[in-house]
Amino acid sequence: MAHIKFYSGEEVPLEMHKVRIVQKLSLPHIERRLEALNEAGNNTFLLKNADIYLDMLTDSGVNAMSDRQLAAMMESDDSYAGSATFTKLENKIRDIFGTEYFLPVHQGRAAENVLAKVFVRPGQVVPMNYHFTTTKAHICVNGGSVDEIIIDEGLEVTSANPFKGNMDVAKLEAIIEKRGAENIAFVRVETGTNLIGGQPHSLENLRQVSNVCNKYGVMLVFDASLLADNLYFIKTREEACKQMSVREITRAIADLCDIIYFSARKLGCARGGGICTRNRDLYMKMRELVTLYEGFLTYGGMSVREIEAITVGLDETMDEDMISQGPQFIAYTVNELNRKGVPVITPPGGLGVHLDAKRFVSHVPQAEYAAGALASALFLVSGVRGMERGSVSEQRDDDGNEVYSNMELLRLAVPRRVFTLSQLKYAIDRIVWLHENRALIGGLKFVEEPKMLRFFFGKLAPTSDWQHKLMAKFRADLGDSL
Ligand code: F0G
Repeated sequence: MAHIKFYSGEEVPLEMHKVRIVQKLSLPHIERRLEALNEAGNNTFLLKNADIYLDMLTDSGVNAMSDRQLAAMMESDDSYAGSATFTKLENKIRDIFGTEYFLPVHQGRAAENVLAKVFVRPGQVVPMNYHFTTTKAHICVNGGSVDEIIIDEGLEVTSANPFKGNMDVAKLEAIIEKRGAENIAFVRVETGTNLIGGQPHSLENLRQVSNVCNKYGVMLVFDASLLADNLYFIKTREEACKQMSVREITRAIADLCDIIYFSARKLGCARGGGICTRNRDLYMKMRELVTLYEGFLTYGGMSVREIEAITVGLDETMDEDMISQGPQFIAYTVNELNRKGVPVITPPGGLGVHLDAKRFVSHVPQAEYAAGALASALFLVSGVRGMERGSVSEQRDDDGNEVYSNMELLRLAVPRRVFTLSQLKYAIDRIVWLHENRALIGGLKFVEEPKMLRFFFGKLAPTSDWQHKLMAKFRADLGDSL
């Protein structure tokens, strides 16, 4: 990692790349933002890009690509079967993970579909450090259930633990003892644990998890979608790994797992996904579902151009300068917000900045979707689009009761190499303003509530006219500013 000291002593995350292609942005005035918000049912997934200034919804499929990736896309070999482009990716995966077999899929959740269909039987459980929405949905649709065994500190919003994504290994052993190994479909470790704030696990923890899996003959599945960030944290926070190269850490991780799958919308800064394994039997079990759901084995639903981009993107992920950019920008933003008293998840993780809605809007009950309300309020006052990661992202139980999430978070993703520091400073400025005016923020209620994955399509309305009051205060404080 380039260590560049400022003479002033200021801690500034400095980019080791330059921008060569840009996209024009606009920022509609607050009155239009209010209209847009209500057209979208206060669901940031339903906003249109034309109404958004900084799109911090996700890092998925929107990371900036490199010149080398774009160049590779131009030389892709298009064929239904046996494309040379696919062989390049297969070889790159072998080189990086040491896994002989690779199955391409169109994105991460397609890998989860295949894994759940092949390995999850009704009544089986999948212990994991923490669930991801699409992962859990696939496991449950196939009759399985999820048991989250993140270490206790993982769910503490503020902490100094550098590895809040670690799995509680004693709990893992207890579950396997209690349920019997035959009732465990597999154990899943999610790297850069998404829903608890992009928090990493350590290599040591993964080693311990792998030892328990080996002891009981249970398969270890690794969701590598957020590997880039987690590699950075292992490299910088885990004493025993400081002398290891990023490649060595990656290989040490891969050697502990039976199956690795990933969304290439995140890992590799392109669009697509894949499943990797050293084990031919596992590969053979999954192979036909890939041809059934995704496409032939040498494209798996991806365009060959994207496959070329993934190959180069994975290679670039082994570069410390590349993987440090996201976490360093996130750390800068988290530290600034923290300093100004805004409740955020600490320590800073990967993926994005996570505002703690339970404290930010402590007067808005979970029943009125605190994180959803904060997402709506922030868009209104800034044109910054975040993603609710709280109770709206949960699903009602079989009796129709709300399932409240452990954390109510507003995630502001920082897609890799996309935003400048001044743009993040703008976001910080508006968040601080909103925090000072938080008493004006009210709740939301569903007006259209789909049964499954309601956070994608559901529509909500404010429980009072709080949005108009917030807008009036914005105009009073900021005049005619956009
Ligand atoms: N696993 C993790 C850890 C993820 O973060 C995601 C996607 C997936 C699997 C599914 O991959 O989207 O390619 O199908 N996360 C995106 C996000 C959607 O915004 O955090 P996918």
